[in-house]
Amino acid sequence: IVGYRYLSPDEELPFDDEQEGLSEQIVFTFSHVVAENTPKGRAADKFAELVNEKSNGKIKIVVFPNGSLFSDIEDITALKEGQVHFIATSTAKMGGLSPEWAVLDLPFAFPTYEAIEEGIHGPIGTHLLDSLQKKGILGLAHWSNGFKQITSNTGPIRLPQDLQGQTIRIMNSDTLRAQYELLGAEAQPESFNDTYHLIEAGKIDGEENTISNIYSKKFYEVQKHLTISNHGYLGYVVMMDQKVWDQQSKNTQQILLEAMQETTAWNDRQAIKINEEQLELIKQNSSIQIHELSNQEKEQWKKKLDPLYDTLAATIGDKLVDELKALRT
Ligand code: LMR
Repeated sequence: IVGYRYLSPDEELPFDDEQEGLSEQIVFTFSHVVAENTPKGRAADKFAELVNEKSNGKIKIVVFPNGSLFSDIEDITALKEGQVHFIATSTAKMGGLSPEWAVLDLPFAFPTYEAIEEGIHGPIGTHLLDSLQKKGILGLAHWSNGFKQITSNTGPIRLPQDLQGQTIRIMNSDTLRAQYELLGAEAQPESFNDTYHLIEAGKIDGEENTISNIYSKKFYEVQKHLTISNHGYLGYVVMMDQKVWDQQSKNTQQILLEAMQETTAWNDRQAIKINEEQLELIKQNSSIQIHELSNQEKEQWKKKLDPLYDTLAATIGDKLVDELKALRT
């Protein structure tokens, strides 16, 4: 099973219209902040499609992309207050719920996509999902977007010292803040959908993100340099409020879980493909200068940033940091 652990693969879906909970149409809302043509956007739509199919149209998921329902600053509170049923928040923004989530932000934690999958769908990811129980939240799955890159107007960014003195927009994460401080940059947490305008207005020099976010939000239009650094992970935790979940019938729960399982497995493959395709589109459609870090350059970044593993172990916990370190080799 990929992504969650509530339905065993050989368990049958006892689908029956007559059974409790499916005699009327049920509508759920799903809020996220990215564009539709991104790994998360497409996964949310795929989830809605699968739920619709599996319930013969009885369960509808209405997806609100681009922060049109709630921004990334509001979504967790909105979930807790019952104003939205599903959210897929970047794991980097989960530090307010528990500092352990910062583990997934550690720089150069995952050398490959396979290591990402082992991290988020293995014991580390499961532990993080379970940690939400005490907050009254059901963590349904991890959806990966892949690796973050760096964009800036002051560049090119080849070596760690190239970011010195720059103001970099980050997601609200202590690890990311510590990372940029170590590089001599000023880290500025800002909402995702404000980023384009902040760059355009010259309020920030740059930001870090996946290619799909850089492409779909057109950051390449307002940034001069893009460094393919693959220095960090960006992914999401799909969540529901536990009370709302508990109110659902067994059938509804099983349909949602099965659709989530299929979507999660599908997303892992899609995310890689989307980011690759959209890098080609950026190359074709813009004059942004692209630099890919060489292995030697990467070693210099790692050397500079590796002390974070020790400094942040105090907040994240030694066990999780050690488990993550094992995936780096
Ligand atoms: C960001 O804020 O840069 C990302 O978390 C946006 C997203 O949801 O992918």
